[in-house]
Amino acid sequence: MTSRREFLTTAAAGAGLSVSLQASQSKPAKTSANDKVQIALIGCGGMGQGDARSSTATGLTKIVAACDCYDGRLQHMKETYGPLLFTTKNYEEILARKDIDAVIIGTPDHWHSKISIDAMKAGKDVYCEKPMVQHVDDGAPVVAAQRATNRIMQVGSQRVSSVIYKKARELYQSGAIGKLNMVEAWWDRNSATGAWEYTVPPDANTDTCDWNTFQGRAAKTDWDANRFFRWRCYRDYGTGVAGDLFVHLFSGLHFITGAIGPTRVFATGGLRFWNDGRDVPDLLIGLYDYPQTAEHPAFNLVLRVNFESGAQESSGFRFTGSDGIMTVSDKVTVTGAPPETEPGYTIGTFSAAEQEAFLKAYHAKYPETKASPENLKAAKEMTYQAPPKYSDHIDHHRNFAMAVRSRKPVVEDPTFGFRAAGPALLSNMSYFENRVVEWDPAAMKIKG
Ligand SMILES: NC(=O)c1ccc[n+]([C@@H]2O[C@H](COP(=O)([O-])OP(=O)(O)OC[C@H]3O[C@@H](n4cnc5c(N)ncnc54)[C@H](O)[C@@H]3O)[C@@H](O)[C@H]2O)c1
Repeated sequence: MTSRREFLTTAAAGAGLSVSLQASQSKPAKTSANDKVQIALIGCGGMGQGDARSSTATGLTKIVAACDCYDGRLQHMKETYGPLLFTTKNYEEILARKDIDAVIIGTPDHWHSKISIDAMKAGKDVYCEKPMVQHVDDGAPVVAAQRATNRIMQVGSQRVSSVIYKKARELYQSGAIGKLNMVEAWWDRNSATGAWEYTVPPDANTDTCDWNTFQGRAAKTDWDANRFFRWRCYRDYGTGVAGDLFVHLFSGLHFITGAIGPTRVFATGGLRFWNDGRDVPDLLIGLYDYPQTAEHPAFNLVLRVNFESGAQESSGFRFTGSDGIMTVSDKVTVTGAPPETEPGYTIGTFSAAEQEAFLKAYHAKYPETKASPENLKAAKEMTYQAPPKYSDHIDHHRNFAMAVRSRKPVVEDPTFGFRAAGPALLSNMSYFENRVVEWDPAAMKIKG
């Protein structure tokens, strides 16, 4: 195995930096007490702390620093990773540290592009939570910064590392459902937490929360604990259900089919239930046209998120092809059913002689079978399941940590991340501007 010294030296040598950098910041530390990738967590909320857990569960990384805008979360990071953990409310102090190889960015969406770019320019590898960017205009600069700095950047839609999705891709590519014509995917929820009504801690105030830093580039407002702890409900910081959940569905779809994005986007929906002051819909339906490519035929995509589904939370895909249907959730199921000709109901409208002639020819090809237990056909259905306690999240972090070591590509680089985030963000544009939006998925640009 490459030693930490070797891989970090190679990493720095291969960086090919063309952005303005301070030389001292551009190179990660060359020595360390151990072989683990030294990670700082920036944004230590629900997902960030989950990322830290999954990252360290790989056995390849160590959390050495944490940055957040709320005291309580920094305190919890020290409780979890030890009182000596370096903590700060200013992420630039993290980027200036030489003992940090990589950062995990678990901040709200409006900070993703800036911290990712700053971190790569400072010589850090980056694991950034999805959606990679808050606005379509933020995408190209992140892609460019990763190319210019040659840092490793993984975007955090973990299902692209899932063995279930790998199996689905293998089945799709082997022609298990024939020629794809349509994909439906959904993520329905029916709980307050599912609808982003996150807990606000009793000590939330402007002494414990750095409201100014939190707001960043967003329009400044008076302190509001809901905006701080339930930021997804506001377009100033979040990206609505499309950036939160459609993006996972785009990532999974693109991974399975090799598609790079739709050319036309239309979304509709409304605020139907969680009318708590939020300025984004809680029900959104998107329609997308995917053009034919070398990887797949032209197909249509329908996405849905409904936060008042009246049933249990459920998320999944249904791929419809000429020869069968593949569903993907926490398992993959393929039902093969190539259509067979059958004597339809109109046969009874023909003359008796014609009916007889048709049925004779038909049964020569498809012999009649008597209904009996031994004649029953086994359903053409195959189901694949992951082992109990399987975690695609740990696999996604493993893929990142291994790439930091090997300098080989990650599974979800900024181009992949932007091609998933782009159509999700265009869904918001379509909804709010009430129009069809055209997208060039190869160039990753809005058309027209
Ligand atoms: N991959 C997944 O399945 C998944 C699941 C949930 C959330 N996410 C993503 O993770 C990100 C975080 O979501 P969350 O639910 O953990 O939010 P959260 O509100 O629980 O945590 C965000 C934290 O970021 C901190 N923060 C804000 N600005 C900061 C800054 N400039 N520097 C340092 N810290 C800052 C806040 O104080 C807060 O503690 C979002 O982008 C979300 O889309 C991904």
